[in-house]
Amino acid sequence: MARHLITSALPYINGIKHLGNLVGSMLPADVYARYLRQRGHDVLYICATDEHGTPAELAARDAGLPVAEFCRQQYEVQREIYAGFRLSFDHFGRSSSEQNRELTQHFGRRLAERGYIEERTVKQVYSVTDGRFLPDRYVVGTCPYCGYERARGDQCENCTRLLDPTQLIEPRSAISGSPDIEVRDSAHLYFLQSKLADQLRTWIESKTDWPVLTTSIALKWLNEGLEDRGITRDLEWGVPVDRPGFEGKVYYVWFDAPIEYIGATKEWADVDPARRDWSSWWTEGDDVTYTQFMAKDNIPFHAIMFPGTIFASGEDWKLTDYIKGFNWLNYYGGKFSTSQGHGIFTDQALDLLPPDYWRYFLMANAPEGQDSSFTWELFAAQTNKDLADTLGNFVNRVLSFSKKRFGPTVPAGGEPGPAEIELAEELVGHIQDYAAALEAMQFRKASQALRAAWSAANSYLERKEPWVQIRTDADAAALTLRTSMNLIYLFGLLSAPIIPDAAAVLRGLWTEDGYTEGEDQQPVWPSDDEVRELAWLPAGQAFSVPNVLFRKITDDDVAEWREQFGAEDVG
Ligand code: 2FM
Ligand code: ZN
Repeated sequence: MARHLITSALPYINGIKHLGNLVGSMLPADVYARYLRQRGHDVLYICATDEHGTPAELAARDAGLPVAEFCRQQYEVQREIYAGFRLSFDHFGRSSSEQNRELTQHFGRRLAERGYIEERTVKQVYSVTDGRFLPDRYVVGTCPYCGYERARGDQCENCTRLLDPTQLIEPRSAISGSPDIEVRDSAHLYFLQSKLADQLRTWIESKTDWPVLTTSIALKWLNEGLEDRGITRDLEWGVPVDRPGFEGKVYYVWFDAPIEYIGATKEWADVDPARRDWSSWWTEGDDVTYTQFMAKDNIPFHAIMFPGTIFASGEDWKLTDYIKGFNWLNYYGGKFSTSQGHGIFTDQALDLLPPDYWRYFLMANAPEGQDSSFTWELFAAQTNKDLADTLGNFVNRVLSFSKKRFGPTVPAGGEPGPAEIELAEELVGHIQDYAAALEAMQFRKASQALRAAWSAANSYLERKEPWVQIRTDADAAALTLRTSMNLIYLFGLLSAPIIPDAAAVLRGLWTEDGYTEGEDQQPVWPSDDEVRELAWLPAGQAFSVPNVLFRKITDDDVAEWREQFGAEDVG
């Protein structure tokens, strides 16, 4: 039994996330965590809200709340949504925690002690009206190149040129609109990442098993030359910098956010004295495998900056063993976008349909090799074919027919023959493919293999035709139905990582009154021998027929949702 530490990129606190955020971080991490637990591994799956930075401050301001209160509320909102998607975090923490503050300050001090920090004075825009320094993107003005009047201080949206806020003509604050701004000196801490370039390169080059997406992004950064990075900001909200002369300054959000992976583990440990030895999860050289999940824009921070922080600390912190990076999920040709309200937000999704529908589609279409696309038409077609027909209909057909002809218990009679042996061998093959894909975190492939197992069951049923068999040979029909019921139970085990609710129903049907509660205990992974026997459910075992497992998505639904969410090509 190995230990697995799993983290998914921390969602920003400043608003509800859309499905594109979910598919590139938390959902695949959850599927992987569930799979590993099912194989008997000791898993610690950690996530948290990423609460610092200017966007959080501004969102709080828009909401008319003090930022700490805003974050507290939004944390609860996000936590509830993720519970709704059945994300099985061992702990879902907050980067604003005490634990993270201590750790972040600890790292800051270590880096300074070891010569990786330099104080530099930089010129920064200060808004007199707002009484604060403005981050570059919160200074707006006219672009000196193209004349666009609402260019941001970091980049002109119109001509895409990178800018410095001092280049803007008629600059003003994006927060208040006030032109009463001036340039002031401010002292900041710089992390001398450039000193770590060789060490980081050696480390990245040793990761020959990492996806090309990940290593190529990391190497691109290294090849372009690592720049020293300002890791402090003139903001109120964040982890305070505990250094003389830095009163009123905080660490940059991207410095403290990855440290919260450790911070949240400590939060988890602090809940229960039995978790005293939490730090063994974070000690390099211990028996832990650490896997991180994230979308591609996060890769530089996880492949370069956070390991850089760890190297520079000179301490024995666990480095990531594997980074699973994702491309983008598109919505009708455009990116899902929070700021433009384009796409489907996670709370809206759960208002429409239960979590398994989304989980299945998103994993079957995970943006792994390249970007992938969500459209309502595709979502409806796949849900109806795979979940409603191939899986759901099989279950209801078998159980209703058997109940009608043999009563509410698993029917006796018949002995497994060549058809059952052949079926079992085929299933063993699909299950091996499925497990291999999950091991390799290839979620599209995994979904295909699972679907292939469901299809094999359908083909078996179509070949045997118990509704015909029953006319001449009741024992033969009983064998077909008993075998099919065992397939249903098997699917309750196999499907659990991807569609946990439906899987729990399938495992819980084997009583008279059926399964009503949420989720049951940890399912186990079926062994090849068990699959060859297909004998979890003996003759005589009671069962109940579930309500429709997956409803079909109609053309009317599609039309309504297209209307509600907008479905014009924006590409
Ligand atoms: O891109 C994002 O959504 C960031 N909030 C991810 C942070 S990941 C980690 F470093 F905390
Ligand atoms: Zn411009």
